[in-house]
Amino acid sequence: MVASSSSKRPPPCLLLLILAVSFLGYSSARPHHMAGDTVAIDVEATMMERFQRWKAEYGRSYATADEERRRFGLYARNVRYIEATNAAAGLAYELGETAYTDLTNDEFVAMYTAPPLRSSDGDDEVAAMAFITTRAGPVDERTEVYFNESAGAPASVDWRASGAVTDVKNQGRCGSCWAFSTVAVVEGIQKIKTGKLVSLSEQELVDCDDLDSGCDGGVSYRALQWITTNGGITTRDDYPYTGLAGAACDRSKLAHHAAAIAGFRRVATRSEASLANAVAGQPVAVSIEAGGDNFQHYVKGVYDGPCGTRLNHGVTVVGYGEEAAGGDKYWIVKNSWGKRWGDEGYIKMKKDVAGKPEGLCGIAIRPSFPIM
Ligand SMILES: *[C@@H]1O[C@H](CO)[C@@H](O)[C@H](O)[C@H]1NC(C)=O
Repeated sequence: MVASSSSKRPPPCLLLLILAVSFLGYSSARPHHMAGDTVAIDVEATMMERFQRWKAEYGRSYATADEERRRFGLYARNVRYIEATNAAAGLAYELGETAYTDLTNDEFVAMYTAPPLRSSDGDDEVAAMAFITTRAGPVDERTEVYFNESAGAPASVDWRASGAVTDVKNQGRCGSCWAFSTVAVVEGIQKIKTGKLVSLSEQELVDCDDLDSGCDGGVSYRALQWITTNGGITTRDDYPYTGLAGAACDRSKLAHHAAAIAGFRRVATRSEASLANAVAGQPVAVSIEAGGDNFQHYVKGVYDGPCGTRLNHGVTVVGYGEEAAGGDKYWIVKNSWGKRWGDEGYIKMKKDVAGKPEGLCGIAIRPSFPIM
Protein backbone atom coordinates (compact mmCIF):
# COMPACT_ATOMS: atom_id res chain seq x y z
CA MET A 1 0.00 0.00 0.00
CA VAL A 2 1.12 3.52 -0.66
CA ALA A 3 1.70 5.57 2.45
CA SER A 4 -0.54 8.54 2.94
CA SER A 5 -0.37 11.53 5.24
CA SER A 6 -3.95 10.94 6.30
CA SER A 7 -4.54 8.47 9.08
CA LYS A 8 -7.43 6.81 7.25
CA ARG A 9 -7.28 4.91 3.98
CA PRO A 10 -5.56 6.91 1.25
CA PRO A 11 -8.10 8.51 -1.04
CA PRO A 12 -8.26 6.75 -4.42
CA CYS A 13 -7.23 9.64 -6.55
CA LEU A 14 -4.17 10.29 -4.41
CA LEU A 15 -2.95 6.80 -5.14
CA LEU A 16 -3.52 7.26 -8.85
CA LEU A 17 -1.59 10.51 -8.72
CA ILE A 18 1.35 8.80 -7.04
CA LEU A 19 1.25 5.96 -9.55
CA ALA A 20 1.01 8.45 -12.37
CA VAL A 21 4.42 9.97 -11.68
CA SER A 22 6.17 8.87 -14.82
CA PHE A 23 9.02 6.44 -14.71
CA LEU A 24 11.49 5.94 -17.50
CA GLY A 25 13.95 3.33 -16.28
CA TYR A 26 12.72 0.02 -17.54
CA SER A 27 12.31 0.33 -21.26
CA SER A 28 16.07 0.66 -21.70
CA ALA A 29 16.84 -1.96 -19.05
CA ARG A 30 14.82 -4.62 -20.84
CA PRO A 31 16.91 -7.73 -21.49
CA HIS A 32 17.86 -8.16 -25.15
CA HIS A 33 18.23 -11.42 -26.90
CA MET A 34 21.86 -12.32 -27.48
CA ALA A 35 23.62 -15.51 -28.48
CA GLY A 36 24.09 -17.63 -25.39
CA ASP A 37 21.02 -16.33 -23.54
CA THR A 38 19.14 -19.02 -21.75
CA VAL A 39 15.52 -19.79 -22.47
CA ALA A 40 14.68 -18.42 -19.02
CA ILE A 41 15.95 -15.00 -20.02
CA ASP A 42 13.85 -15.14 -23.19
CA VAL A 43 10.79 -15.91 -21.10
CA GLU A 44 11.60 -13.01 -18.80
CA ALA A 45 12.14 -10.73 -21.79
CA THR A 46 8.79 -11.75 -23.20
CA MET A 47 7.11 -11.21 -19.85
CA MET A 48 8.77 -7.80 -19.56
CA GLU A 49 7.52 -6.89 -23.02
CA ARG A 50 4.03 -7.96 -22.01
CA PHE A 51 4.31 -5.91 -18.85
CA GLN A 52 5.38 -2.85 -20.83
CA ARG A 53 2.44 -3.34 -23.21
CA TRP A 54 0.06 -3.83 -20.27
CA LYS A 55 1.39 -0.67 -18.58
CA ALA A 56 0.92 1.33 -21.76
CA GLU A 57 -2.56 -0.05 -22.30
CA TYR A 58 -3.67 0.80 -18.78
CA GLY A 59 -1.67 4.02 -18.51
CA ARG A 60 0.22 2.68 -15.51
CA SER A 61 3.55 4.00 -14.26
CA TYR A 62 5.35 3.83 -10.94
CA ALA A 63 7.11 6.34 -8.73
CA THR A 64 10.34 4.42 -8.19
CA ALA A 65 12.41 1.71 -9.85
CA ASP A 66 11.88 -0.47 -6.77
CA GLU A 67 8.14 -0.15 -7.05
CA GLU A 68 8.33 -0.94 -10.77
CA ARG A 69 10.35 -4.09 -10.07
CA ARG A 70 7.90 -5.18 -7.39
CA ARG A 71 4.91 -4.57 -9.66
CA PHE A 72 6.58 -6.45 -12.51
CA GLY A 73 7.04 -9.41 -10.15
CA LEU A 74 3.36 -9.32 -9.15
CA TYR A 75 2.26 -8.90 -12.74
CA ALA A 76 4.36 -11.89 -13.85
CA ARG A 77 3.01 -14.02 -11.02
CA ASN A 78 -0.57 -13.04 -11.86
CA VAL A 79 -0.08 -13.73 -15.58
CA ARG A 80 1.29 -17.19 -14.76
CA TYR A 81 -1.69 -17.80 -12.48
CA ILE A 82 -4.12 -16.62 -15.18
CA GLU A 83 -2.55 -18.87 -17.80
CA ALA A 84 -2.39 -21.90 -15.52
CA THR A 85 -6.01 -21.43 -14.45
CA ASN A 86 -7.24 -21.06 -18.02
CA ALA A 87 -5.28 -24.16 -19.04
CA ALA A 88 -6.91 -26.25 -16.30
CA ALA A 89 -9.75 -28.29 -17.75
CA GLY A 90 -13.40 -27.68 -17.06
CA LEU A 91 -13.68 -24.01 -16.15
CA ALA A 92 -16.81 -22.32 -17.47
CA TYR A 93 -15.12 -18.92 -17.32
CA GLU A 94 -11.85 -17.33 -18.32
CA LEU A 95 -9.34 -15.19 -16.55
CA GLY A 96 -7.31 -12.49 -18.24
CA GLU A 97 -5.41 -9.26 -17.81
CA THR A 98 -7.37 -6.39 -16.34
CA ALA A 99 -6.50 -3.09 -14.68
CA TYR A 100 -5.74 -5.16 -11.55
CA THR A 101 -3.02 -7.47 -12.89
CA ASP A 102 -0.22 -5.75 -10.92
CA LEU A 103 -1.95 -6.08 -7.52
CA THR A 104 -1.81 -8.80 -4.90
CA ASN A 105 -5.21 -10.21 -4.08
CA ASP A 106 -5.03 -8.62 -0.61
CA GLU A 107 -4.38 -5.21 -2.13
CA PHE A 108 -7.20 -5.74 -4.60
CA VAL A 109 -9.68 -6.68 -1.88
CA ALA A 110 -8.59 -3.79 0.33
CA MET A 111 -8.83 -1.25 -2.48
CA TYR A 112 -12.02 -2.23 -4.24
CA THR A 113 -14.35 -3.85 -1.73
CA ALA A 114 -15.72 -2.67 1.59
CA PRO A 115 -15.43 -4.42 4.94
CA PRO A 116 -18.33 -6.77 5.63
CA LEU A 117 -21.03 -5.50 7.96
CA ARG A 118 -21.04 -6.66 11.54
CA SER A 119 -22.96 -9.91 11.81
CA SER A 120 -25.45 -8.24 14.16
CA ASP A 121 -26.62 -6.29 11.11
CA GLY A 122 -28.73 -9.32 10.37
CA ASP A 123 -27.67 -10.25 6.87
CA ASP A 124 -28.74 -13.77 7.39
CA GLU A 125 -32.23 -13.66 8.70
CA VAL A 126 -34.59 -10.85 7.85
CA ALA A 127 -36.65 -11.82 10.90
CA ALA A 128 -33.70 -11.14 13.18
CA MET A 129 -33.36 -7.58 11.96
CA ALA A 130 -34.14 -4.81 14.36
CA PHE A 131 -32.44 -1.56 15.21
CA ILE A 132 -28.87 -0.89 14.15
CA THR A 133 -26.67 2.12 14.74
CA THR A 134 -25.62 4.31 11.80
CA ARG A 135 -24.00 7.72 11.33
CA ALA A 136 -27.52 9.10 11.77
CA GLY A 137 -28.15 7.12 14.96
CA PRO A 138 -30.29 4.00 15.42
CA VAL A 139 -32.56 3.00 12.54
CA ASP A 140 -35.22 0.32 12.24
CA GLU A 141 -34.09 -2.26 9.70
CA ARG A 142 -37.38 -4.13 9.53
CA THR A 143 -39.10 -3.75 6.22
CA GLU A 144 -41.56 -5.50 3.96
CA VAL A 145 -40.02 -8.52 2.28
CA TYR A 146 -40.59 -9.61 -1.32
CA PHE A 147 -41.14 -13.36 -1.37
CA ASN A 148 -42.33 -14.77 -4.69
CA GLU A 149 -41.34 -18.24 -5.82
CA SER A 150 -44.08 -18.51 -8.47
CA ALA A 151 -43.18 -20.05 -11.80
CA GLY A 152 -43.73 -18.11 -14.98
CA ALA A 153 -40.92 -15.59 -15.06
CA PRO A 154 -39.34 -15.24 -18.54
CA ALA A 155 -36.48 -17.65 -19.30
CA SER A 156 -34.16 -14.72 -19.75
CA VAL A 157 -34.14 -11.03 -18.91
CA ASP A 158 -31.62 -8.36 -19.85
CA TRP A 159 -32.48 -4.83 -18.80
CA ARG A 160 -29.58 -3.51 -20.89
CA ALA A 161 -31.55 -4.47 -24.00
CA SER A 162 -34.41 -2.26 -22.80
CA GLY A 163 -32.06 0.67 -22.27
CA ALA A 164 -32.65 0.62 -18.51
CA VAL A 165 -28.97 0.40 -17.58
CA THR A 166 -26.45 3.24 -17.74
CA ASP A 167 -22.83 2.70 -18.82
CA VAL A 168 -20.58 0.84 -16.42
CA LYS A 169 -19.06 3.31 -13.97
CA ASN A 170 -15.89 3.18 -11.87
CA GLN A 171 -15.89 3.61 -8.11
CA GLY A 172 -12.09 4.04 -7.98
CA ARG A 173 -10.40 3.49 -4.64
CA CYS A 174 -13.42 4.24 -2.47
CA GLY A 175 -15.61 1.62 -0.78
CA SER A 176 -18.67 3.14 -2.43
CA CYS A 177 -19.85 0.06 -4.34
CA TRP A 178 -23.13 0.26 -2.38
CA ALA A 179 -23.80 3.75 -3.79
CA PHE A 180 -23.24 2.49 -7.36
CA SER A 181 -25.60 -0.47 -6.95
CA THR A 182 -28.22 1.78 -5.33
CA VAL A 183 -28.01 4.37 -8.08
CA ALA A 184 -28.16 1.64 -10.75
CA VAL A 185 -31.45 0.23 -9.42
CA VAL A 186 -33.02 3.69 -9.17
CA GLU A 187 -31.85 4.49 -12.72
CA GLY A 188 -33.42 1.19 -13.81
CA ILE A 189 -36.85 1.59 -12.24
CA GLN A 190 -37.02 5.21 -13.41
CA LYS A 191 -36.39 4.15 -17.02
CA ILE A 192 -38.94 1.33 -16.73
CA LYS A 193 -41.62 3.59 -15.21
CA THR A 194 -41.02 6.84 -17.08
CA GLY A 195 -39.00 5.97 -20.19
CA LYS A 196 -36.17 8.28 -19.11
CA LEU A 197 -32.68 6.93 -18.45
CA VAL A 198 -30.85 9.45 -16.28
CA SER A 199 -27.43 8.88 -14.73
CA LEU A 200 -27.78 9.62 -11.02
CA SER A 201 -25.33 10.75 -8.34
CA GLU A 202 -23.30 8.25 -6.34
CA GLN A 203 -21.37 11.08 -4.71
CA GLU A 204 -24.54 12.52 -3.17
CA LEU A 205 -24.95 9.19 -1.38
CA VAL A 206 -21.26 9.00 -0.42
CA ASP A 207 -21.34 12.52 1.08
CA CYS A 208 -24.89 12.89 2.35
CA ASP A 209 -26.40 9.46 3.14
CA ASP A 210 -25.81 9.25 6.88
CA LEU A 211 -27.34 5.78 7.14
CA ASP A 212 -24.23 4.55 5.32
CA SER A 213 -20.50 5.20 5.66
CA GLY A 214 -19.28 6.88 2.47
CA CYS A 215 -16.04 5.36 1.18
CA ASP A 216 -16.01 3.01 4.18
CA GLY A 217 -18.98 0.99 2.96
CA GLY A 218 -22.75 0.83 3.09
CA VAL A 219 -25.75 -1.21 2.05
CA SER A 220 -28.15 -0.52 -0.80
CA TYR A 221 -31.38 -0.95 1.12
CA ARG A 222 -30.27 1.71 3.60
CA ALA A 223 -29.31 4.03 0.76
CA LEU A 224 -32.74 3.41 -0.77
CA GLN A 225 -34.21 4.33 2.61
CA TRP A 226 -32.14 7.53 2.62
CA ILE A 227 -33.28 8.48 -0.91
CA THR A 228 -36.90 7.82 0.11
CA THR A 229 -36.60 10.04 3.19
CA ASN A 230 -34.67 12.75 1.33
CA GLY A 231 -37.41 12.89 -1.30
CA GLY A 232 -35.12 11.97 -4.19
CA ILE A 233 -31.62 12.01 -5.63
CA THR A 234 -29.96 14.34 -8.10
CA THR A 235 -28.10 13.62 -11.35
CA ARG A 236 -24.46 12.65 -11.70
CA ASP A 237 -23.91 15.82 -13.72
CA ASP A 238 -25.29 17.96 -10.91
CA TYR A 239 -23.34 16.21 -8.14
CA PRO A 240 -20.37 14.57 -9.90
CA TYR A 241 -18.39 11.62 -8.64
CA THR A 242 -15.02 12.34 -7.02
CA GLY A 243 -14.49 9.08 -5.14
CA LEU A 244 -13.02 11.12 -2.30
CA ALA A 245 -13.86 10.27 1.27
CA GLY A 246 -14.83 12.78 3.90
CA ALA A 247 -16.18 15.64 1.78
CA ALA A 248 -18.99 17.60 3.38
CA CYS A 249 -22.43 17.00 1.94
CA ASP A 250 -23.31 19.72 -0.57
CA ARG A 251 -26.65 20.49 1.00
CA SER A 252 -27.60 22.90 -1.78
CA LYS A 253 -28.12 19.83 -3.99
CA LEU A 254 -30.29 17.86 -1.56
CA ALA A 255 -33.54 19.23 -2.98
CA HIS A 256 -32.53 18.65 -6.62
CA HIS A 257 -34.65 15.59 -7.28
CA ALA A 258 -33.97 13.99 -10.65
CA ALA A 259 -35.52 10.73 -9.43
CA ALA A 260 -37.77 9.99 -6.48
CA ILE A 261 -38.81 6.63 -5.02
CA ALA A 262 -41.72 5.64 -2.81
CA GLY A 263 -39.72 3.14 -0.76
CA PHE A 264 -38.03 -0.19 -1.24
CA ARG A 265 -38.36 -3.92 -0.67
CA ARG A 266 -35.86 -6.45 0.49
CA VAL A 267 -36.04 -9.72 -1.40
CA ALA A 268 -36.54 -12.78 0.81
CA THR A 269 -33.10 -13.97 1.77
CA ARG A 270 -31.83 -17.29 0.32
CA SER A 271 -34.48 -17.49 -2.39
CA GLU A 272 -32.99 -17.32 -5.88
CA ALA A 273 -36.51 -17.91 -7.23
CA SER A 274 -37.72 -14.71 -5.51
CA LEU A 275 -34.64 -12.89 -6.77
CA ALA A 276 -35.40 -14.01 -10.34
CA ASN A 277 -39.01 -12.81 -10.09
CA ALA A 278 -37.81 -9.50 -8.70
CA VAL A 279 -35.22 -9.15 -11.51
CA ALA A 280 -37.95 -9.93 -14.06
CA GLY A 281 -39.54 -6.68 -12.85
CA GLN A 282 -36.51 -4.42 -12.56
CA PRO A 283 -32.74 -4.37 -11.79
CA VAL A 284 -32.00 -5.46 -8.21
CA ALA A 285 -29.15 -4.47 -5.87
CA VAL A 286 -27.29 -7.38 -4.23
CA SER A 287 -24.28 -7.92 -2.01
CA ILE A 288 -21.67 -10.55 -2.80
CA GLU A 289 -18.30 -11.73 -1.62
CA ALA A 290 -15.96 -10.38 -4.30
CA GLY A 291 -12.62 -11.61 -3.21
CA GLY A 292 -10.31 -14.26 -4.51
CA ASP A 293 -7.83 -14.31 -7.37
CA ASN A 294 -10.34 -15.64 -9.87
CA PHE A 295 -12.74 -12.78 -9.21
CA GLN A 296 -9.87 -10.30 -9.53
CA HIS A 297 -8.83 -11.66 -12.93
CA TYR A 298 -12.26 -12.65 -14.33
CA VAL A 299 -12.85 -11.62 -17.95
CA LYS A 300 -15.65 -13.78 -19.34
CA GLY A 301 -17.87 -16.83 -19.08
CA VAL A 302 -20.09 -18.06 -16.25
CA TYR A 303 -18.25 -17.55 -12.97
CA ASP A 304 -18.87 -20.29 -10.42
CA GLY A 305 -16.36 -19.46 -7.73
CA PRO A 306 -14.35 -19.92 -5.62
CA CYS A 307 -16.02 -17.52 -3.21
CA GLY A 308 -17.75 -17.55 0.15
CA THR A 309 -20.51 -15.46 1.70
CA ARG A 310 -18.51 -12.80 3.51
CA LEU A 311 -20.46 -10.05 1.77
CA ASN A 312 -18.03 -7.23 0.97
CA HIS A 313 -19.23 -5.77 -2.33
CA GLY A 314 -22.43 -4.24 -3.68
CA VAL A 315 -23.35 -4.88 -7.33
CA THR A 316 -26.48 -4.87 -9.49
CA VAL A 317 -28.31 -7.79 -11.08
CA VAL A 318 -29.57 -6.46 -14.42
CA GLY A 319 -30.84 -9.75 -15.81
CA TYR A 320 -30.37 -13.47 -16.02
CA GLY A 321 -30.11 -16.14 -18.68
CA GLU A 322 -28.80 -19.51 -19.66
CA GLU A 323 -25.90 -20.56 -21.87
CA ALA A 324 -27.26 -22.19 -25.03
CA ALA A 325 -29.04 -25.55 -24.84
CA GLY A 326 -29.25 -26.58 -21.20
CA GLY A 327 -25.97 -24.89 -20.25
CA ASP A 328 -25.22 -22.99 -17.08
CA LYS A 329 -27.78 -20.52 -15.79
CA TYR A 330 -26.37 -17.16 -14.77
CA TRP A 331 -27.14 -13.79 -13.29
CA ILE A 332 -26.02 -10.78 -15.36
CA VAL A 333 -24.21 -8.60 -12.85
CA LYS A 334 -23.18 -4.99 -13.40
CA ASN A 335 -20.06 -4.07 -11.45
CA SER A 336 -18.57 -0.63 -10.72
CA TRP A 337 -14.91 -1.29 -11.53
CA GLY A 338 -14.97 0.30 -14.98
CA LYS A 339 -15.22 -1.41 -18.37
CA ARG A 340 -11.67 -2.73 -18.20
CA TRP A 341 -12.58 -5.36 -15.60
CA GLY A 342 -14.57 -8.46 -16.47
CA ASP A 343 -16.76 -8.70 -19.54
CA GLU A 344 -16.96 -4.98 -20.42
CA GLY A 345 -17.50 -4.31 -16.72
CA TYR A 346 -20.01 -7.16 -16.22
CA ILE A 347 -19.78 -10.64 -14.77
CA LYS A 348 -22.05 -13.59 -15.38
CA MET A 349 -22.43 -15.35 -12.03
CA LYS A 350 -23.76 -18.87 -11.83
CA LYS A 351 -27.45 -19.01 -10.88
CA ASP A 352 -29.36 -21.77 -9.07
CA VAL A 353 -26.31 -23.60 -7.75
CA ALA A 354 -27.48 -26.90 -6.24
CA GLY A 355 -27.28 -26.98 -2.44
CA LYS A 356 -26.55 -23.23 -2.19
CA PRO A 357 -29.78 -21.41 -1.31
CA GLU A 358 -27.64 -18.37 -0.41
CA GLY A 359 -26.56 -18.21 -4.05
CA LEU A 360 -23.05 -18.09 -5.50
CA CYS A 361 -20.89 -15.71 -3.42
CA GLY A 362 -23.97 -15.01 -1.26
CA ILE A 363 -25.81 -13.21 -4.07
CA ALA A 364 -29.24 -14.22 -2.70
CA ILE A 365 -28.59 -13.15 0.91
CA ARG A 366 -29.22 -9.41 0.74
CA PRO A 367 -31.02 -8.23 -2.41
CA SER A 368 -33.21 -5.11 -2.48
CA PHE A 369 -35.01 -2.92 -4.99
CA PRO A 370 -36.79 0.45 -5.03
CA ILE A 371 -40.51 1.07 -5.49
CA MET A 372 -41.53 3.83 -7.86
C1 LIG B 1 -44.40 -13.29 -8.91
O1 LIG B 1 -43.68 -13.88 -9.98
C2 LIG B 1 -44.47 -14.17 -11.14
C3 LIG B 1 -43.57 -14.88 -12.14
O2 LIG B 1 -42.51 -14.03 -12.53
C4 LIG B 1 -45.08 -12.91 -11.71
O3 LIG B 1 -45.91 -13.22 -12.80
C5 LIG B 1 -45.85 -12.19 -10.62
O4 LIG B 1 -46.28 -10.94 -11.12
C6 LIG B 1 -44.99 -11.98 -9.39
N1 LIG B 1 -45.76 -11.36 -8.35
C7 LIG B 1 -45.40 -10.24 -7.77
C8 LIG B 1 -46.27 -9.76 -6.68
O5 LIG B 1 -44.39 -9.64 -8.09
